[in-house]
Amino acid sequence: MIPQSFVQELLSRVDIVDVIERYIPLKKSGANYFACCPFHGEKSASFSVSPSKQFYHCFGCGVHGSALGFLMEYSGLGFVDAVKELAAQVGLQVPDDGRSASPQDDSSERLYEAMNLAARFYRDQLKPTRRAVDYLKRRGLSGEIAARFGLGYAPDDWQALQKIFPDYQAKILAEAGLVIDNDQGRRYDRFRDRIVFPIHDRRGRVIAFGGRILDKGEPKYLNSPETPLFEKGRELYGLYLAQKPIRDEGFAVVVEGYMDVVALAQFGIANAVATLGTATTPQHVHTLLRQTDRIVFCFDGDAAGRRAAWRALENALESLRDDATLAFLFLPAEHDPDSFVRAEGTDAFRKAATGAKPLARFLIEELRSRHDMDAAEGRAAFVHEAAPLVTRIAAPLLRLQVIKMVAEESGLTQEEVEHAFGVIAANPRHGRQRAPQPAPPPEDAPRPAFQGKRRSGGLAGMRPAGRRKPPSTAATLLRLIMQHPAWAARMPVDLVPSDSAEGLALIAIIDMMSLGEPIPPGGLGALIERFRDTPHSETLSRVAAELVDAEFDESIVETLFEDSLRKLHADSLSAEIEALLRHDREHGLDAAGRHRLAELLVDKRKLAEASKASDL
Ligand code: UTP
Ligand code: MN
Repeated sequence: MIPQSFVQELLSRVDIVDVIERYIPLKKSGANYFACCPFHGEKSASFSVSPSKQFYHCFGCGVHGSALGFLMEYSGLGFVDAVKELAAQVGLQVPDDGRSASPQDDSSERLYEAMNLAARFYRDQLKPTRRAVDYLKRRGLSGEIAARFGLGYAPDDWQALQKIFPDYQAKILAEAGLVIDNDQGRRYDRFRDRIVFPIHDRRGRVIAFGGRILDKGEPKYLNSPETPLFEKGRELYGLYLAQKPIRDEGFAVVVEGYMDVVALAQFGIANAVATLGTATTPQHVHTLLRQTDRIVFCFDGDAAGRRAAWRALENALESLRDDATLAFLFLPAEHDPDSFVRAEGTDAFRKAATGAKPLARFLIEELRSRHDMDAAEGRAAFVHEAAPLVTRIAAPLLRLQVIKMVAEESGLTQEEVEHAFGVIAANPRHGRQRAPQPAPPPEDAPRPAFQGKRRSGGLAGMRPAGRRKPPSTAATLLRLIMQHPAWAARMPVDLVPSDSAEGLALIAIIDMMSLGEPIPPGGLGALIERFRDTPHSETLSRVAAELVDAEFDESIVETLFEDSLRKLHADSLSAEIEALLRHDREHGLDAAGRHRLAELLVDKRKLAEASKASDL
C-alpha cells in the first residue's frame, strides 16, 4: 500500500507537461499543450495536456487522466510501479505505510527473477536437445524466429529446475507456477519435455509460460496457472514484440495460438498477438484499442473458431469507438493462421486481413443466419436477439448504423426498432414473462424528499441515444467544485440529490473535505488520483476530461456557483412543499404540518426574490 498522502505529495511536485514530454513531444497552443495521441493512430493533434488542471485528454479516443494515469497507460506499468517511476523522476523516496507493502513488492520482484531464470534455463536447453530442435524445424520455424520469441525446451526430467534453483523447496517456485506440489507432498516441475513459449508483459518481463507437447498427447498445451504476475484475461501473447509493428502497420491481428503468432511473425506479419487459451476479454480489446484503431480477429475456420469470434464480438461491444474498426477474418475451414500463411503466403494473409468482415456486418449476418427471416416469427426473434447486443455497442454512431441495419433486415422502421429495443432493454424478459410491477408504496409512507425528481436522467452513458438533457444541478456543481474544491466547504451536503453518479461523486468530495482532508494540491489530476479505486473514479475522470478542453470565463463561474446553490435549495424546498401538499390532499395536514408548509412557502419566496435580485 502506498499512502494516499504520498501520492498527493508526488502529484503536487510533478508537472504533467514534463512527465508527458519525456515520452512524446508537446506543442503549446493557448493555455494547453498538444500532441498526436500516442494511444491511437492519428495525424491530427487531438491529445491535449492542461498544465493548470494537471490532466490530459484526447478528444479523438477519449483517454484521459493524471500524470500517474498517463504513465500507467503509456508504459503499461501497474499503479505501484508508476508511482515508483514518477517518484524516481523527481527524486522522492516511496514510503510504505507498514502494511504488507514491501514484502508484497519484494515477492513480485523475486517472482520476476525466478521466471527470468527459468526462461533462460529453458532457452539454454533447446539447442542441445535434438528432438526439440527437429520438432521446431518440422513446424517450419527458423532459428532466428525461435530466438526472437525466446522459445525454449523443458527437459524430460521431474526436477530439472533444481539445477538453477538449489533451494528447490522455496515457496516462490510454487507461487511462480513453475513447480507442482502433489498430494504426497512431493514437488516436481510443471513443464517437462515440452517446447516452452515464454509469455512477456508489455515491458518484456517474463510472467508465464506456455508449453507444447512434442508429440501427440494431452494436454497439447500446458500453461502457467494464474499467479500474482499473470492474469490470463489481461495478457496477450506476443504483445511485447508486436507493440511497435502494430503502431507501424496501423492494425493489430488477434489469433488463437502461440504458434500462429510465431509463424505469422516469421512471414513478416509481426503485428499479431494471441489470447492465452481464453476467450477475448473486454480488457484485451481495451488494451489493443489503446495502441491502434483497427483490430482484426483471425480465428480458425472451423466451428470452434466461429464460436470464438462471436465471443470476441460480445466482449468487444462495450469497448467500441466510432473512430475504431473491429473486423473478423474467417480462414478456410481447414486452416489456422499458421497453416494459412505457410500455404498461401504473406500477401494472401495481408489481403485477407484487409478484407476482413467488419463487426457490424458479422453481427447482423450471424444473427440473421440463426432465424427464418421469411417468417414474421423469425424476424421478431431476430430483433429480440439483437436488442441486448446492439444496446451494448458503446460507439453511438455505429450503434445507430446497426439499428438501421436491424430495421432493414426486419422490415421495421428505425423508430420501431428503437422503441422495441427500449422496451426489451428495460425488460429483458419481455415476451416470455411479464416483469412484476413494483409494489405501490404504503399509503402514508414518508416520501423521501428527492425521490420523485429524476431530472438528471439516471447515470450518464445509460441515456438512450438522442436528445441530450441539460446538465442537472448536481452535475453543474460537480464541475464547479472540481475546479474550485475549496468551495465544497460552502455546500450543504444534505441538499445534494444522490440519484445520479454526479451527485454521489459530489457528495464524496464534500465528505472528504468535511472530514478534514486537505484539498488535493496537485490540481484535478491529484483529485482524480484521490478517488482512484472508488466508485466515483470513472465519473470524476470523465468530467475532468471534459473540463480540460472547456474554456471557462472565471468571472461567471462564481455567479454560476451561487445560482446553482440557490437552485439546489429551491429544488429541495419544492420537493418538500410538494410532498406536504400531496399529504394534505390525501390525508389532510395537522397543525405542525401546516406550520412547516407556511415556513417553506416563505423560504421559497425569499429565495425567488434573491435570485431575481442577482439577475439584475
Ligand atoms: P490450438 O489447438 O488451435 O493449437 O489451440 P495451435 O495454436 O494451432 O497449436 P499447434 O499449431 O497445434 O501447435 C490454440 C490455443 O489454445 C490454447 C493455447 O493457447 C493454444 O495456442 N490451448 C490449446 C491450451 O491452452 N491448451 C490446449 O491443450 C490446447
Ligand atoms: Mn496450429
